[in-house]
Parts: sequence; C-alpha cells; structure tokens
Amino acid sequence: MTFLLIAHRGASAEAPENTLAAFDLALEQGAKALELDVRLSADGVPVAIHDATVERTTDGHGPVAGHTLAQLKALDAGSWFGPRFAGERVPALEEVLVRYRGKARLQIELKSEEVELPAGVAALVRQHKAEHDIILSSFIKAQLERARPLLPEVPLAWLVRRFNNEVIQEAAEAGFQSCCQPAALVTAELVREAKARGLTVVAWGVRSVEELGRLVGCGAVAATVDWPDRARKNIERKFAGPARPSTRSG
Ligand code: G3P
Ligand code: MG
Repeated sequence: MTFLLIAHRGASAEAPENTLAAFDLALEQGAKALELDVRLSADGVPVAIHDATVERTTDGHGPVAGHTLAQLKALDAGSWFGPRFAGERVPALEEVLVRYRGKARLQIELKSEEVELPAGVAALVRQHKAEHDIILSSFIKAQLERARPLLPEVPLAWLVRRFNNEVIQEAAEAGFQSCCQPAALVTAELVREAKARGLTVVAWGVRSVEELGRLVGCGAVAATVDWPDRARKNIERKFAGPARPSTRSG
C-alpha cells in the first residue's frame, strides 16, 4: 500500500507556511512530497506564497503582484509564526526547484489567475529538468489547460470544492490525472467512480488522523496535510497491522 502524504505548504503546522524552513522540516520528518502555492511577483517571477496579499504571512503590506522579487525578498516571512523563524524569506520557485528536486515530489499549485503564470513555471521546470519531480495543481481549470501543452508529461491535478459524478466526468473529459477535493466529501463510491474514469483521488483539508485513516480506506491515493510527521507515524501504524501471533508453541 502506498499512500502519498504531501506536506501542505511544508510542515505548516510547525513552521511558517511556504518557506524553506517549512519545506526543510517536512523533509526532516520524512515527507516525500511538498505542496507549495505559486504566484507571480510584479516583475514576473514565480514565488511561493499563498495569499494574494502579503499581510498575513509577512511583515509587509499590499498585493504580492505589486512587489518585485527584490521587494518580496526584503520582507520577513517567518516572524508572524514565531520569533525563531525571524528572517525567513518568501522563496522564489526556482530556489525550491534547486533545493528539493530529486529529494521530494513537488505539488506546485498555480494559485493566481495571471495568464503568464503557467509559462513562467514551465520555463523554470524545463530549465531545471524537474519535469519528473512535479505535479501541477490548481483550482483554476484554465491554468492547468494552459500548462498542459507546455509540460505534457507532467500530471495535472484539479482542485475542486465539491465531489460528485459531474466533477469526475468534467475532470476526465479535461484529461486531468487527479481530482482533489475536501477530505470530508471523499467516499469509497466516488473514489471507485473516479478510478473507473482513469482519475486518482487526492484529498485536501484533512482535519484529523482519523479522517486520514478513513481516506486511505476509501481508496484515495494521497492527501495534503499540515502535520506530515504525525500523519506518517499514524499511517505507518495503520499499515503495520496487528502484531503477528507467535509461532512458538509455548
Ligand atoms: O492541497 C490543496 C490545497 O493547497 C488547496 O488549498 O488554499 O491551501 O491552497 P489551499
Ligand atoms: Mg495550496
């Protein structure tokens, strides 16, 4: 049984999301895959940050798209989470590719609407020969469709907020490899339906280890989690099974 745990924005329960500190920690904890959110800076550089504005996760103000890479790099992306992370920076996607390629699968979420974003990401992926290390995900179907001809060998995962037969059909017709939906909506029946249409099911928004266990039982292949360490230990326990009965007669 392989179930892929994807560290959501890194080990984001324990370190500031979408920073090298969070990604490094996830790897130290044994994560084999990292999720990051990517947007464009004002000068067109793909950077790892979730929100459209910098307020929540840095000491700056205003839209990400209103900052050049140099201006984003001047911000503190760690202190909001805790003083020991002071000085963490907003990583450029390129830094992430260079640092983790070959060490972890990267689920790169095309977060923003800019039509130039898929091409910017694809160029870096080609430049760093990371085609076989990544998955591209997005809630924005058009971004995945823009990425496909640029990186035809890269799996595409469509993020949705609902899960039903219509979504499965739409994802299959679009030629995506996975559909990703809130953990609470995943059922064994829908996973079967998705598989029959050639799609794997990835869950997001997992709230507990119990829910993670339920997802595995339903046949989902992966989930993004903020706490990869706890999740891994729990999954390993689950698949270790009960202790083997002794073969000794006494
Ligand atoms: O794993 C999917 C997840 O990243 C989607 O939601 O808002 O955390 O990017 P969000
Ligand atoms: Mg995301």
